[in-house]
Amino acid sequence: MTCYDDIITEFERFKETSTMTHAERPLVRDLLGDLSGLEALDLACGYGYYTRMLADLDAARVVGVDLSEGMLQRAKEYEARVPQGIEYVQGDVMKLPATLGSFDVACAVYLFNYAESREQLQAMIDGISARLRPGGRLVAMTHAMAFEPDGPAWDAYGLHVRDFEAVPGGGRRLLLTALSETPCDLVCYQWPQDVYEAALDQAGFTGPSWTPTPVPADLNDAYEDGYWDAFRANTLTIGLTARKALR
Ligand SMILES: C[S@@+](CC[C@H](N)C(=O)[O-])C[C@H]1O[C@@H](n2cnc3c(N)ncnc32)[C@H](O)[C@@H]1O
Repeated sequence: MTCYDDIITEFERFKETSTMTHAERPLVRDLLGDLSGLEALDLACGYGYYTRMLADLDAARVVGVDLSEGMLQRAKEYEARVPQGIEYVQGDVMKLPATLGSFDVACAVYLFNYAESREQLQAMIDGISARLRPGGRLVAMTHAMAFEPDGPAWDAYGLHVRDFEAVPGGGRRLLLTALSETPCDLVCYQWPQDVYEAALDQAGFTGPSWTPTPVPADLNDAYEDGYWDAFRANTLTIGLTARKALR
């Protein structure tokens, strides 16, 4: 398992500078939509990159949850510099306490790709379902199973595949290096779409919908011809939305 306490600055540099983040950010914003007056939970919030977006989108209450104390400390430093009223809580999405309350929207950007087994994926999705109100929305980004680790490479966008192997349950473990001035190693998992959809169904979600990250027009134009070819041909990052059933 990747220990995020050890790679806070490295991960922050990767997040802020990689072109995969620049491409994914508008998709996350579109999938979230208008959050005015809504209560929003950011799961696996890291140093608050998307937690701050939830507040910028006018959510009435924003809570960020992460396993890593170090990441949360960095998130709180941002909050201290530019207060947005965000609460940060240390915790495991697989065991979210009921004391957090109930939410209208749960954002989970690069959480599910840390599930090491189908059971852990189910536990994460069950945990999220328990904290969403009926009709509440899940907005997630994860790693698409369709990504071929030995296919067109994503190094130019910030991620290098060092190795990969199949794991029980139909998934794949990816040993990745997040590339920036200060590279850091990550261990992530891909799970098939039907595994996600079965877990969502079991947890009471409806209408799962998948959106491979498109290349925004301004970024397409800003880079040389061919730069985004591998990004389009071998999709790694994919948006997932679903709604908690009304009853
Ligand atoms: C790749 S970072 C993503 C952070 C943030 N969502 C972003 O896009 O910048 C993954 C984060 O997931 C957290 N994480 C992994 N498994 C978790 C779990 N079971 N519960 C809570 N946080 C978890 C890690 O501590 C890490 O901060």
